[in-house]
Amino acid sequence: MKVFITGGCGFIGSNFIRYFAAKYPRSEILNVDKLTYAGNLENLKGLEKRKSYRFLKADIANAAQMKKTFKNFRPEAVINFAAESHVDRSITKPDTFLKTNFLGVGVLLNCALEYGVERFVQISTDEVYGSVHRGKFREDSVLNPSNPYSASKAAADGLVLAYYKTYGLPVVITRSSNNYGPYQFPEKFIPLVVFNAMENKKIPVYGDGLQVRDWLFVEDNCRAIDIVLRSGKVGEIYNIGGQHERANIQVVKQILRTLDKPLTLIEHVKDRPGHDRRYALSIAKIKRHLGWQPKTSFESGFLKTIKWYNKNRDWLKNTQTGAYRSFYRKYYSKLGLTET
Ligand SMILES: NC(=O)c1ccc[n+]([C@@H]2O[C@H](COP(=O)([O-])OP(=O)(O)OC[C@H]3O[C@@H](n4cnc5c(N)ncnc54)[C@H](O)[C@@H]3O)[C@@H](O)[C@H]2O)c1
Repeated sequence: MKVFITGGCGFIGSNFIRYFAAKYPRSEILNVDKLTYAGNLENLKGLEKRKSYRFLKADIANAAQMKKTFKNFRPEAVINFAAESHVDRSITKPDTFLKTNFLGVGVLLNCALEYGVERFVQISTDEVYGSVHRGKFREDSVLNPSNPYSASKAAADGLVLAYYKTYGLPVVITRSSNNYGPYQFPEKFIPLVVFNAMENKKIPVYGDGLQVRDWLFVEDNCRAIDIVLRSGKVGEIYNIGGQHERANIQVVKQILRTLDKPLTLIEHVKDRPGHDRRYALSIAKIKRHLGWQPKTSFESGFLKTIKWYNKNRDWLKNTQTGAYRSFYRKYYSKLGLTET
């Protein structure tokens, strides 16, 4: 299969490319990533020499560049991971979120239509449903986003479905809960806590820390996305949840205990505006129709993750200093893999 993957240098995208390349060594992968602060070529170290893998530095919102890329590569499938993904940043600077998460998706949909793509997978999020006090969201629940990030993702979901209904573009949407695992940029909750704890720095916890998230090990998500790509029904949405609900403060304490660090590192800070209290997903649909369910318990995924960050302290440090950027840019351009 020829797969056009966007945002493959980010957290979930890079895990997915590794998963996909290992499982289907004969597939052809084109990874298109703008390399924002969250995109890290180091996440794909080792893959760059494979003939079946190519990388292109490009912006999904650049219509001319995307058109040229589709024309040259002629993908059978598109999987769109590319997004501005950090809620806090969307509150202070919403414009880039609208551009990438909505307009960029529009550009990809137009290209997919023009070049006859057989499957378009949009990677969405449980955050489009907003907060739920009791019960769980199903795929047909009303969307009620609370911040510019989730609103831009909800808008994109609407556009993706409209291209199915209006033009018959074969789309599928996945909405997953909070992912955790290796290669996650340490502005996100779990790697941030691990990083600060390792450095004996204070750990900021929003408000009372009782916000509940449903944690999904990234490898389980990759497996689900692959199943949806191959067997998901066109025009459908699939929730992907870890079924491991934990309050943020519980997770922080568990990390500190695992790393043998004192709870006094915890520092409660003012809650952020529009902070959703609880996310919870029903995964009945994907379980019943596609036979997927998470395999990794929170305890084992959590330990694997902490061990990975502990073993890859340099990776963690490099994300802070940007040291990997100039090194990998030079390295990639030597191999002729990067176009700007
Ligand atoms: N991380 C989670 O817990 C989670 C949960 C549910 C859904 N999602 C969704 O999964 C997807 C991937 O999330 P992530 O956590 O890996 O994000 P990330 O921020 O780690 O990675 C995003 C990647 O997209 C790239 N990118 C950003 N703007 C781009 C543009 N205009 N053109 C091309 N590339 C661009 C970045 O360089 C980066 O490599 C996103 O769509 C996000 O909404 C994430």
